[in-house]
Amino acid sequence: MKYLVTSALPYTNNLPHIGNIAGSHLPADIFQKLLRIFGYDVLFVGGTDEHGSPIEIAAIKEKTTPKELCDKYYVLHKKIYEWLRIDYDNFSRTSNKTNHEMTQYIFNKLYENKYIFEDKIILPYCENDKKFLPDRYVEGTCPYCKYERARGDQCENCGRLLDPKDLINPKCSICGNRPIFKESKHLFIDLRKLEKKLLKWINKNKHWKENVRNFAISWIKEGLKPRSITRDLSWGIKVPLEGYEDKVFYVWFDAPIGYISSTKEYFEKIGKEEEWKNYWLKGSKAKIYHFLGKDNIPFHTIFWPAILMGTKEFNLPYNVVGLEYLNFENRKISKSQNWGVFFEIENDKIFIRIKDKLYEIDSDYIRFYLAYILPENKDTNFFVEEFKEKINKELIGNFGNFTYRVLSFIEKYYSLKIPNAKLNKEDKKILNIFKESKKEIKIFIKNVEIKKVLYKILELSSMANKFFQENEPWKNEKNRDKIIMISANLVKDLAILFWPFITKGSEKIFDLLNYNFKPQNSIKRIGKIELKNHIIKKPEIIFKPLEI
Ligand code: 2FM
Ligand code: ZN
Repeated sequence: MKYLVTSALPYTNNLPHIGNIAGSHLPADIFQKLLRIFGYDVLFVGGTDEHGSPIEIAAIKEKTTPKELCDKYYVLHKKIYEWLRIDYDNFSRTSNKTNHEMTQYIFNKLYENKYIFEDKIILPYCENDKKFLPDRYVEGTCPYCKYERARGDQCENCGRLLDPKDLINPKCSICGNRPIFKESKHLFIDLRKLEKKLLKWINKNKHWKENVRNFAISWIKEGLKPRSITRDLSWGIKVPLEGYEDKVFYVWFDAPIGYISSTKEYFEKIGKEEEWKNYWLKGSKAKIYHFLGKDNIPFHTIFWPAILMGTKEFNLPYNVVGLEYLNFENRKISKSQNWGVFFEIENDKIFIRIKDKLYEIDSDYIRFYLAYILPENKDTNFFVEEFKEKINKELIGNFGNFTYRVLSFIEKYYSLKIPNAKLNKEDKKILNIFKESKKEIKIFIKNVEIKKVLYKILELSSMANKFFQENEPWKNEKNRDKIIMISANLVKDLAILFWPFITKGSEKIFDLLNYNFKPQNSIKRIGKIELKNHIIKKPEIIFKPLEI
């Protein structure tokens, strides 16, 4: 069985903030690493979402071209994810040639299969800005929930997908004027024809998270409408149909296709051109997991599967892991209001900015705390004080101290050589508890419950700490060799288990232990005495206290 993990493709009009990281990149990365250490065959792909109105408008605002804007932001995004050790196997761009070709291919299939039709539609046009307005650049009142600042594509209050002409009191969000509505011809995907099939499929997917499934089912039950897949823009992917020379595909049409293209590109790079088909073509046994924030749920549970179904050729996602929002100190994160934790790059160095102050901190600390408060089932909050406390008390006080104490002990009492001792049944108790924990963790992975995995590992780490403390190797000369050999191997075990969460820190520990860590199937090593008669490096402090 193959596993493909994806994270929502970020737009290249902005730098990511902690909400974006906690909402998709980080849980996807932790999940794919957990799968790896449990021995699964996994590929992790992502990329940037470079088309559509968000990019065109940002380019206008930055007085540059969409292409230049995307080139600049692609590099910055990639840098930030690499710094955070979000270890994509391939991080692509939806503007790449592969994605242009794949999008046109998929469109042709939908067209052949008669899921596409043409219609004249009335679109918002701003007479002041002299342009058709992209859906999200029209704001007004949501016709369903009456939220006053709904965007033309989606209401962020009730989550429903909208059409700009549904809005009550529409306004151009560039200049604030009321747009007029003008006729233009466009192509539509006929979601009505796929409605029944979609509902059946979603009903069958009992392993999805309850909130994601219920959301999707209730939208379908309200009745699906055809959705336009072309736009009056110049930046984007060309529509391979006569009469459409001046239009491009709607960004949400080609963006998820980017997942396929990124997979294809990965295999092209390693010279296995046909291999992507084993993930994406119908009949292939791959399980595809999409990680995304809740505003992306309708696109990934309805629109995207409908596109795939309509081709009659492609594999559908196995799980759509929709996360809730991460807020900052009880308020929605907002770049314009400088409310949140943001990334900044200066002279090639990455800093985080909290309330106007820049900090240079260990990226593992961000990973650890965000994982600790991951908005898996409900909105959660980043609190600066709690951030400090969790790092200093949980990560450092628990795991960091244990590791440092054990390694220093080996230096002081054993001149850096882990002793070799014979263990009896009683001695192996803690090793067996570690071994046993694998089953529980595996169930959490199956249910995509990432926080539960972290809490379980922290529990094991406390246990290891207690083991060291209560056995008092500094006094207990008789059992010292045993205690230290066991403790050193528990350090190794914890570093393996923590690797999906604090990748860099774990790798530093493997280095200090002189341990040749290979992620794939490393779960097998848990609870085993692998380090005995073994020389380690001179210990160093692994995690410095967080001061902010
Ligand atoms: O909401 C967003 O930021 C989109 N760029 C997500 C796209 S996900 C995927 F379909 F590409
Ligand atoms: Zn306007």
